[in-house]
Amino acid sequence: MDVYGLIGNPVGHSLSPPMHEAAYEDLGIDARYVTFEPPADGGAAAVESAATLGVRGLNVTIPFKQDVLDAVEPAPLAERIGAVNTVDFGTDPPTGYNTDAVGATRALRDHDVALDGTAVVVGAGGAGRAVAFGLADEGMRVHIANRTESKAHDLADEVPDATGHGLDALDELVADADVLVNCTSVGMKADRSPVPTDALHADLGVLDAVYDPIETQLLRDAAGAGATTVDGAWMLLYQGVEAFEQWTERDAPVEKMNRVLRERL
Ligand code: ATR
Repeated sequence: MDVYGLIGNPVGHSLSPPMHEAAYEDLGIDARYVTFEPPADGGAAAVESAATLGVRGLNVTIPFKQDVLDAVEPAPLAERIGAVNTVDFGTDPPTGYNTDAVGATRALRDHDVALDGTAVVVGAGGAGRAVAFGLADEGMRVHIANRTESKAHDLADEVPDATGHGLDALDELVADADVLVNCTSVGMKADRSPVPTDALHADLGVLDAVYDPIETQLLRDAAGAGATTVDGAWMLLYQGVEAFEQWTERDAPVEKMNRVLRERL
């Protein structure tokens, strides 16, 4: 039996075990997906121990996404982002991927949102960083807007062809944009949106990384403006799908994984 898992601290109530185990069951793969909670300074040691124990793959969440870089060979995009959320033990040393970035781009593409033109990323934390690099990797011009404007400038200095702004620039930026991604926590468990309603328009594809609630105020506003909307569960799904496909080299049963994820959200 193969073992996969997640390291985080706190690892909490993760949706990854049921999502991945549904995929194993669907494809007849004899495997389990378990959660581990190493001490906060033990991320790299946990990856080394997992390799010794023959674990096939690990997902990595807060606070270990940067620390595990010391225990893996990062794929080019993960290296640029400076964070790893998926470790594949099929290589020596293990390979570190960032499937958060690809999760966002696959979620948008799955909803027929073209990844060309201009994107606005709201937020410059861990999620904003991954999404900004992911969209730039697709060839998009990326504008980053953040409450703390200096963090948007710092991130934009690293991302190819990107610019940094405060939230007050959103009206103007969104009016000319093709894609909008919310990577702040605004809208989580509250009917608030980080983007002025008037700025939204029908030519936008809007992804909200927030998935609690599934239908955020931003997505309601965007749907009202005629935009294509993509909820945060799709991003969560596709980061898992991408990890599954890296580990198993098989196409993931996306519909099954999506159904199991949404049953539990
Ligand atoms: P994550 O890893 O989910 O990206 P994070 O690194 O803590 O989490 O980043 C949170 C993001 O949400 C940041 O961009 C933060 O803005 P600041 O850099 O100014 O802190 C943004 N954010 C959080 N609360 C916010 C609020 N009330 N209004 C606007 N932005 C907010």
